[in-house]
Amino acid sequence: MKKPGTARAEILKPTDENIQRAALILKQGGIVAMPTETVYGLAGNAFEAESLSKIFLTKERPTFDPLIVHVSMENATLADLMREQLIYPHELSDIAVRRIDKLIRTFWPGPLTLVLPKGDLVPDLATSGMETVAIRAPKHPVARKLIQAFGLGVCAPSANRFGRISPTRAQDVMEELGDRIDVILDGGDCEIGIESTILQVTPEGELYLLRPGVISREMISEAVGAAVLDPTAAANPDGSPQIAPGRLTSHYAPKKPFQILPHVISQMMTPPLLRGPKPARIGLLVAGGSAKSAGETLSEILEIPVEAESLSESGDWSEAAKTLFGKLRKLDASSADLLLAEPVTGSGIPYAIADRLFRAAGSKRE
Ligand code: TXA
Ligand code: MG
Repeated sequence: MKKPGTARAEILKPTDENIQRAALILKQGGIVAMPTETVYGLAGNAFEAESLSKIFLTKERPTFDPLIVHVSMENATLADLMREQLIYPHELSDIAVRRIDKLIRTFWPGPLTLVLPKGDLVPDLATSGMETVAIRAPKHPVARKLIQAFGLGVCAPSANRFGRISPTRAQDVMEELGDRIDVILDGGDCEIGIESTILQVTPEGELYLLRPGVISREMISEAVGAAVLDPTAAANPDGSPQIAPGRLTSHYAPKKPFQILPHVISQMMTPPLLRGPKPARIGLLVAGGSAKSAGETLSEILEIPVEAESLSESGDWSEAAKTLFGKLRKLDASSADLLLAEPVTGSGIPYAIADRLFRAAGSKRE
């Protein structure tokens, strides 16, 4: 890792030559930032503890928060993961095998991470000592090319400092980690904009949604013909609820105070109760529709100037996911001293967006 405050990282166009250069850094045990279809990742050799510690150090991430192994096999199957000793097959029941196979065929490559029994080759540092490993096959062509050029799987957490907003552009990675890494491969704006869905498949074949994403509970349920459960519904043998490690409440956090409003602006009858001292200027994240009109309405209700950003002026949820972190980042950099967001409700993508907003606000979703 570089000394903070020294030379900045280079943002490289994803030419074959630059991808080879990034692959060489990985082969030499270094780390590089790469684009994926969800968010930018900070990649290092998944099978080498030293590379993995660089990732944790660079992100200032606690080692109890496990990483996702990113693979890029042509038409990967469960058999490939077993052959590569990424997962431990003997524990899996027939029904689990059938369901995992179906999920891989339906959603890979793409934004679905599977949590499965860990194989022997995966270092404990990658999984924070757990018996399960998270694996995903990204769809972004630059991520795929880089992993193929490197020849092994890479661990790639989102390329932000721990607890901060995930980066969706090369420039965001520069702001987060530019003084700590050498190379950022530029793959343009991330198509999806929020992190992959994380699904645990137990040896018995039960499905648990550990992190919502654009691949929704409903899509997964339909593909495998089984219910997708919430982790809190599962009890450990000692009776305590199962928890997803690393899913800390405070995450994706802006630097400024951030609060979710009780109602969308159009349904707001009384001025919302604001936490903390009276702000001089508010930054408003509008869930959908016109930023201008929502901003003006809130400004009239509160008698405070409001700078508003809409996740999607046309109310398109895919666009909202894509713009979410960028807009949050923009408001965080604005002159507002309090950030507010309209609440988001519903299933599918709105559910995943609401999850990020709750965590950004440091509160639990009921
Ligand atoms: O879309 C994504 O998944 C992005 C891009 C870069 O691929 N990556 C990403 O990684 O979001 P990260 O490290 O920011 O989030 C990974 C999360 C961890 O916080 C942890 O909760 C969960 O994955 N995780 C990893 N291994 C796990 C395991 N064995 N069991 C349960 N959860 C696990
Ligand atoms: Mg992250």
